[in-house]
This record gives sequence, structure tokens and C-alpha cells, in this order.
Amino acid sequence: MKNISLNISKVLSFISQEQINAQEAKANECIATLHKGNGAGNDFLGWLHLPSSITDEHLTDIENTAKVLREKCEVVVAVGIGGSYLGTKAVVEALNNSFDWLHTDRKNPVLLYAGNNIGEDYLYELSEILKGKQFGIINISKSGTTTEPALAFRILKKQLEDAVGKEEARQRIVAITDAHKGALRSLADQEGYKTFIIPDNVGGRFSVLTPVGLLPIAVAGFNIRELVAGAAFMEKATDVSVPFSENMAAIYAATRNELYKSGKKIEILCNFNPKLHYIAEWWKQLYGESEGKDHKGIFPASVDLTTDLHSMGQWIQDGERSIFETVISVEKPEHEMIVPTDVDNLDGLNFLAGKHVDEVNKMAELGTQLAHVDGGVPNLKITMPEVTPYYIGQLFYFFEKACGISGYMLGVNPFNQPGVEAYKKNMFALLNKPGYEKESEAIKAKL
Ligand code: PA5
Repeated sequence: MKNISLNISKVLSFISQEQINAQEAKANECIATLHKGNGAGNDFLGWLHLPSSITDEHLTDIENTAKVLREKCEVVVAVGIGGSYLGTKAVVEALNNSFDWLHTDRKNPVLLYAGNNIGEDYLYELSEILKGKQFGIINISKSGTTTEPALAFRILKKQLEDAVGKEEARQRIVAITDAHKGALRSLADQEGYKTFIIPDNVGGRFSVLTPVGLLPIAVAGFNIRELVAGAAFMEKATDVSVPFSENMAAIYAATRNELYKSGKKIEILCNFNPKLHYIAEWWKQLYGESEGKDHKGIFPASVDLTTDLHSMGQWIQDGERSIFETVISVEKPEHEMIVPTDVDNLDGLNFLAGKHVDEVNKMAELGTQLAHVDGGVPNLKITMPEVTPYYIGQLFYFFEKACGISGYMLGVNPFNQPGVEAYKKNMFALLNKPGYEKESEAIKAKL
């Protein structure tokens, strides 16, 4: 069976193999620090052995809960922000039919999202579309106090209770939160909701393989056991015992840090399959929140190709040379589509007749890689055999492990996010939240 793989040959005209190899000792030290649990943020290392420690019983509990929601609901709203929704969205968008919402013979409930913004129009339109529909809610917040999901949940809970009554609503609401702390924990206990726990030692952006991701993914009809199995494979493949030269997480971490030192401050995650758009959104949060601190860190950006070759392509080819690309290349599409022959050939495309659309895509990918490398953009390539739960599981764990190593190589704590608090403090002060009186006065003086 194939596995995902990493190819760094197209960075070697920018930084040398010797430079990357010179990072071996540091990378190994960082992996050892992760595994010994004696580095910064070591109280958030629960993700490290998570895939191999998930029990059958736990997965069955999640699947049974998903079954209840699937039977009762035509729509399930996943309420959460950041790490509390991006992993789910990444998997569901990657695996779902692109036009799922137009299929009338759908077997799975539609998964919608809320609490990931504070758009009044978004919430109004969501609430309107839910009218008359059988819906349920998965409310996800590790802290249980995040404003965006709390606000959305308050609105949706009321709508659900008004529509089906408090007792039935209780059967359709699941809360995923801390074991003991936070407003969501108290609320869930008081209302008697089914709950799942986010382990204390797993941070939001590393939580996709906890019920945070697994429950909504199971509700959407995808195989969470394969997802976990893929991640468990990668847990082994990137273990501390694996030599540097065979450990793709260590090589990725070392290469991107070496590129960063050489002035490449922006990493663009590229895909040639639009279904991977949210994998990149998940990745941006993982690396952005983990590494962007102490005035350091690669800026994680992303593009969907070939789409964005017609918008960002010019910048990537010719703009400031501060970027490098990491391409996720999918070997085999799920479906077949052959370019038909046209007798008149008015569009001049008969040279493609009989070819798979994917063959054209692959040549676009290769052509883009060569053009960008010629234009001064180092290129890393991650090959994914197919877009399946198993390979997404591998990809998730690969990026998580590399992120931990890379953060330590950079010299930051990859497991905290102190910078996220700044806007919250100001927002609460501006909204006159009780307890923020002093900040309120200070901020109003600045306006
Ligand atoms: O990675 C993180 O910890 C954050 O991005 C959180 O996932 C995000 O802020 C949501 O937090 P919570 O789940 O506590 O509502």
C-alpha cells in the first residue's frame, strides 16, 4: 500500500542538501524533546500518541452518537471556531461530493457551520434556512467560553427548542468541551446534553482526532476509523526512533526552517484539487498559531491551483522572492472524465481528446512547478495517493508532528496562542463586558 511522501529535490537549487542535513542533530533533539515531554508547552502534547491510543470503545461511542443525530436530523450544525471546526471542514469538504447540496438522494445529513464568525447576516440566513428543517447541533468549544460559538449556540438552541420542544432538543444537542471547566460544561451538565471531552492536553488546533473532529465527520457519513488508522500509521512513521533521513516530518521541519533562514518568510500551501481548499485552511491555523510568535515565524498562505494561477500566479512567478511553495499533489482522482473529440475542433482542443482531465491537470502542475522554480520559488511536494480518510489521517498527523518539531527548531512554544487574547480583551472592553471596566476606560481613551 502506498503512503503519502515528501519530495524536496526542487529546493536544492536554493539551499543545499548539506544545509538540510546539518539540521539533523537539531531536528532529532526537537523530536526527543517532544517525546520526552520536557520542552515548552509540554502540557499540550496529548496529540502525540493520540492516534494509537484511541480505543474501539471510544470510536463506537462516537459512531453511536453520530447515528442518533443522523437518524433524527436532515441538517446538523457544527458550532465552533478555529481548531474546533477547521479539521472537520477540511475532511468533509475533501471527501464530500462537490455538489452534495444539490443531490436529492443524499444519505447523509447536511453539515453546516456556525460560531466561526460574528456575521449577523450569516446567522440570520442560517436561522432562516433551518426553519421547518429537522436539525441538530454539535456545540464544540474547548474553553467553553469563546464568544463566537457561544453567541451562535444561544441563538440556535432557542430556535431548536422553540421548534421541537426542550426535551427533543436535548436529544439533538451534543456538547464537546472540557471535562470540568467553562460555561459550556456547566450549561451541558445542567441541560443534560450528551457530552464528549476534549482532553486537557490536546490544544484546539491539534484536536481533529478527538471528538471535536471525529463526531461531526462521522455525522457527515465518513469513516473515522480509517482517518484514525492513517494518523496512527504516520505516528509510527515519524516516531523518535525513525532516522532523520527517513522521517518526513523531521525533513519537512528542517527544510522549511532552513528556507526561512535564507529569507523565505512565506510558505504557500498549494493544491491542484479544489476539494483540498480547507485542508489548507486547517494547515494555516496549525502553523500560524503555532509558530507566529516572539516576532518570528513563517507566514502560512495558500492557493488553489490552477484557479489562483489566474489571480495570484503573477505574484508567485514575479513578485518579491520571499516565498516558497509546498504542493499537495494527489496521484489519483476518485472519478474518471475523458476529454471528448469534437469533429469541428473549433476550440482547437482535439490534441487533448481521449485524455483524462487529470492528465491535463498534472501537466499544469508540472509546468507550474518548473516555472515557479525557474522564477526563484523553492518547491516542496507532498504526494497523496488518493483523497481518502486514511490518507487525510496520514496528512493530518504528518503536519502536526512536523509543526511540533518545526516550532521547537524555531525556538518558540508551538502549543500556546497568547496573541489570540489581544482582540478579545479589546472587544470585551468595547462591549462593556462585566469585569472589563478598567480596560473599557483605557480603550475608550484611545478612540
Ligand atoms: O488552537 C486553538 O487553541 C484555538 O484556535 C482554538 O481552537 C479556538 O480559539 C477555539 O477555542 P475553543 O475551542 O476554546 O472555543
